[in-house]
Amino acid sequence: MKITVPFSGRGVDYTEEEISVAVEAMRSANPLTQGRYQQAFEDKFRNFNGARHAFALSNGTCALELAAQLCLLKNGDEVVVPAHTFTSSAYPFLKKGAKLVWADIDPRTRVVTADTLRKVLTRRTRVIVVVHLYGYVADMPAIMTLARERGILVVEDACQAIGADLDGIRAGNFADFGIFSFHSHKNLTTLGEGGMLTLADDGLAALVPMLRHNGHCPFSFEREDYWIPAMGNVDLPEWQGERLWPSNFCLGEVECAVGALQLDRVDSINAQKRRRAIAFIDALRDYPELVFHREDSSRHNYHLLAARMEGGAERRDDFIRSMLKDYGVRCVVQYYPLYRYPLYQKSGLGRADCPATDHFYDHMVSFPFQHNLTDEEFRHMLAAATRVLEEQRKRFRQ
Ligand SMILES: Cc1ncc(COP(=O)(O)O)c(C=O)c1O
Repeated sequence: MKITVPFSGRGVDYTEEEISVAVEAMRSANPLTQGRYQQAFEDKFRNFNGARHAFALSNGTCALELAAQLCLLKNGDEVVVPAHTFTSSAYPFLKKGAKLVWADIDPRTRVVTADTLRKVLTRRTRVIVVVHLYGYVADMPAIMTLARERGILVVEDACQAIGADLDGIRAGNFADFGIFSFHSHKNLTTLGEGGMLTLADDGLAALVPMLRHNGHCPFSFEREDYWIPAMGNVDLPEWQGERLWPSNFCLGEVECAVGALQLDRVDSINAQKRRRAIAFIDALRDYPELVFHREDSSRHNYHLLAARMEGGAERRDDFIRSMLKDYGVRCVVQYYPLYRYPLYQKSGLGRADCPATDHFYDHMVSFPFQHNLTDEEFRHMLAAATRVLEEQRKRFRQ
């Protein structure tokens, strides 16, 4: 039978126990949102990640929207964002009236560094968004030192880096806000959508339950009759003298039940993916045409397995085409530099000085790397890559 390897729409398969917990929550959760499963998921996430406060949300983008609001941006404030990332690392800040400034990536690690950020900081920089893209934790100690020296807030987009750590501190715990996604592709997924916001500030933490749930809160006075003057209150205190607006960003109880249980497996899922990534990279060490970022430590969870192809964009395109046509392996190209999208160009953000971002995107290959790749599929993908690289050596000059 011919083996094909899709770039799967889901990152992990569920265990029977995880399926049972979902069924159990479907039967027993009351209410089906904002209940005991959410509480348990948040408590467990705090313990897992080391965060002081954790709030389950509908998805990672909601966490970014909340963080963007809580940065209290004013017109003219600048927010530095890597140009090489998923779009929702950026647009929530644009919606709040900030001017986005694109930061370049380090060509080796494909994430921002204190040096690439320093180049674009100005007196107007209020916020830096750091993205641990592909699952690799950026150099947060150096970035936080730079940001603190200049009084800049930092949002850590750890959507792809759950569980990864730097010197024992897990991704999401270095900055003012930690952002997580449990989208279908991720190493932990709450049935397709889900997210978490982490933070350390107790004052802000008191506001998030209201911010994520329509401003619902109890009345501040004792009532004899629970329905008078209304069933519940709606309010939002000011934060640092600024008005805040609520949303409905809640995550359902069934999703929370699954997330809490799957947290027990994240470290082992990450370790399995890392072992495979390192095996793949090492097996292709005689093919320097493909340049991987090799990190054999828990600093990388290998959410994705990306490489840069030497020898020009034409050769990269030929590689992807041959992998699919001749071997049924569907590689993809990811993270179009954000300044090339019309959404940002229409806001006057179509220009950037990001040579490493441009070069990496124009030469990158992302291999199918879902956790549920079988050993047979994995071996097939490795053999296919080896053969295509051999064939290319005959067709292309080195
Ligand atoms: C780096 C990054 N930031 C933000 C997001 C947004 O997360 P979500 O899809 O849960 O809204 C994602 C993933 O989808 C992501 O990969």
